[in-house]
Amino acid sequence: MLKRSIVLGTGSYLPERVVSNDELAERLETSHEWIVTRTGIRQRHIAANSEMTSDLALIAAKRALEEAGVAASEVDMLLLATTTPDQTFPATATKVQGQLGMTNGAAFDIQAVCSGFVYGLAVADSFIKSGQAETIVLIGAETFSRILDWKDRGTCVLFGDGAGAIVLSAVENSEDTMQTGGPRDNRGRGVLSTHIHSNGNTNELLYVDGGPSSTQTVGQVRMNGREVFRYAVNNLANIVYEAMEFNNLVVDDIDWLVPHQANKRILDSTAKKLGLSTDKVIVTLDRHANTSAASIPLALDEAVKDGRVKSGDLVLLEAMGGGLTWGAGLIRW
Ligand code: UT7
Repeated sequence: MLKRSIVLGTGSYLPERVVSNDELAERLETSHEWIVTRTGIRQRHIAANSEMTSDLALIAAKRALEEAGVAASEVDMLLLATTTPDQTFPATATKVQGQLGMTNGAAFDIQAVCSGFVYGLAVADSFIKSGQAETIVLIGAETFSRILDWKDRGTCVLFGDGAGAIVLSAVENSEDTMQTGGPRDNRGRGVLSTHIHSNGNTNELLYVDGGPSSTQTVGQVRMNGREVFRYAVNNLANIVYEAMEFNNLVVDDIDWLVPHQANKRILDSTAKKLGLSTDKVIVTLDRHANTSAASIPLALDEAVKDGRVKSGDLVLLEAMGGGLTWGAGLIRW
């Protein structure tokens, strides 16, 4: 019997410290007005010196498990999407596994920068569909502030820190669905499909100028913002069409678009290109800024908790990031 993945719970965590645009304007040649007009960002959360990615991830995971009513001992896989691991190795996921008190299974990190959460969803869903995992905690967590060049106004104003998590569980494909059918039965609850892509010829558009094997330093973010923007609108619209076509659905069927939060102008241009009402787009960018792999689960958790995302809704997650990587995941909530 084929399995499918359903989401049992969501959780998130934002560091306490909030940094406003005005505060950045005190140390950089920038302004609240420029940042809001060009990006939609009003503030960001920044982790305390003592807080590491694993600390943020652990709180988000605990909250998601609590909402799911699942004990850590029942989890057989923990996936952590991050670009800012605590250390080069071991995988930060294994630290969170230990801290959660998970007693079995496997834990590993996923690196696809801002697309990390949708890549993680693709990996998690594949393990569940193949019967190799039953209960998975998928986390997106970042302390992106640690890899920013705080003198580069073109990048440092854009990012923030945070974490979000979901708990996925395997169900028989015919169980917990409104209608039985094949893997493309889009009326059932759960992950309907995932779609991931990358283009390694575009590495130089968004990267970190260091690493263990090149400079033996951590490095800082470098970005050709204008080019990344151009790729984002095209790739994101295409990935939405790909997900719709695969499931015999149309854009109008989408109840909620939960996009990676990089720039309000990217969100608006993508929605416009798709003919999707901006009322259906979940936006947290104004308060969280770009939290890389954490932005989708943070936005999802907010929309689930405030009652916008309800059972039966068709929810589309999409992201693009360094690599370039991009992807989408379609979920019947
Ligand atoms: O999450 C991964 C994916 N990342 C993205 O999707 C980011 C995509 N790109 C973007 O969001 C936008 O390209 C940015 C927000 C990064 C930049 O916006 P833009 O409208 O493309 O601005 P620009 O880079 O073309 O720069 C326009 C001007 C420049 O000045 P000049 O050369 O015209 O005199 C910049 O130096 O704005 C200047 N500028 C700033 N001014 C004040 C750049 N950053 C700032 C700043 N404050 N923070």
